[in-house]
Amino acid sequence: MSILVTGGAGYIGSVVVERLINSGQRVVVLDNLSTGYRQAIHSEAEFLLGDIRDLSCLEHVFSHFKIDGVIHMAAKALIPESITDPAPFYDINLMGGIKLVDTMVNYGVKRIIVSSTAAVYGQPDSIPIDESTTTNPMNSYGETKLSFERTLYWYSRAYGFEVTIFRYFSAAGASINYGEAHIPETHLIPRLLLSALKGTSEAEIYGTDYDTQDGTCLRDFVHVIDLADAHIRALEVPNISGFRVYNMGSGTGYSVLDVVDKVERITGKKLQRKFLPRRNGDPARLLASSAKAIHELEWKPTYQSLDDILVSAWNWHCRFPNGYQK
Ligand SMILES: NC(=O)c1ccc[n+]([C@@H]2O[C@H](COP(=O)([O-])OP(=O)(O)OC[C@H]3O[C@@H](n4cnc5c(N)ncnc54)[C@H](O)[C@@H]3O)[C@@H](O)[C@H]2O)c1
Repeated sequence: MSILVTGGAGYIGSVVVERLINSGQRVVVLDNLSTGYRQAIHSEAEFLLGDIRDLSCLEHVFSHFKIDGVIHMAAKALIPESITDPAPFYDINLMGGIKLVDTMVNYGVKRIIVSSTAAVYGQPDSIPIDESTTTNPMNSYGETKLSFERTLYWYSRAYGFEVTIFRYFSAAGASINYGEAHIPETHLIPRLLLSALKGTSEAEIYGTDYDTQDGTCLRDFVHVIDLADAHIRALEVPNISGFRVYNMGSGTGYSVLDVVDKVERITGKKLQRKFLPRRNGDPARLLASSAKAIHELEWKPTYQSLDDILVSAWNWHCRFPNGYQK
């Protein structure tokens, strides 16, 4: 199969592309490199520098390559920015996504796997969160992802699209060659690891008065390789049709302070805890039930422990202390 991966130069995209190529697929990456890196794209993938909002660029991709399916990961994804400046989130995550699927309709490509997010649930009443939990986003990032999901629901009904939506919880970890390198880095695990590796050795903790065991936010971390493999399962599973939504998590929750403790143990570095006010748009507890993906896709996550996730990320950061920058 020939798979178009939008956002294939980004953190999760780079590992998805690597796993696709290792499983024998032909891969075309479309990425505008706004937050991704040329060096993060596997050398065997075809790379096109371009934007999903650019119709002529989309036309070029679908007319030059025989695309069998699309894994759509390109997005704006910084939650704090989505609260202060929602316009680009609507422009890229919703309108850009619609341009992509409209081009797919024109070229008769009907299979799409989409990166969505736990942010569509907002602050759930109870955990674990399964796919029937009420959606109620707390920020425009979650709202735009949910709107695009709903668009695809109607496209699947009207145009016979085969849609798989993956609502990722917190992606973490690295493969040997590809890892997380955002600028600015807002995600907890790379921030802590970089702080231990070469920074101030400070652990910034946002909010200590949440309704959790130690007052800090509770999160569910899923290894990026397990996430990538779920996409491959979704391509492989026979008779998949219509519109399907799957939560992607490990099913185990860790508080921010749990993660700080584990990072100290794995890196051997003491981190100075710096307690700060809550950030806008952070729900107290996010914990997934991924039973549906495990059952229907026969998805077998292999990294069950946070220690394993942290070790893989630490190894990557030690090997590439400047990420993808020289
Ligand atoms: N990282 C997480 O924990 C997490 C959690 C939930 C959902 N997601 C979703 O997973 C996907 C990948 O996330 P990530 O952490 O790898 O982010 P990332 O920023 O590392 O990757 C996004 C990629 O998309 C590209 N891109 C952005 N806008 C584009 C555009 N208009 N046209 C073409 N390319 C564009 C960027 O250059 C980048 O390479 C996103 O859709 C994100 O919303 C991520």
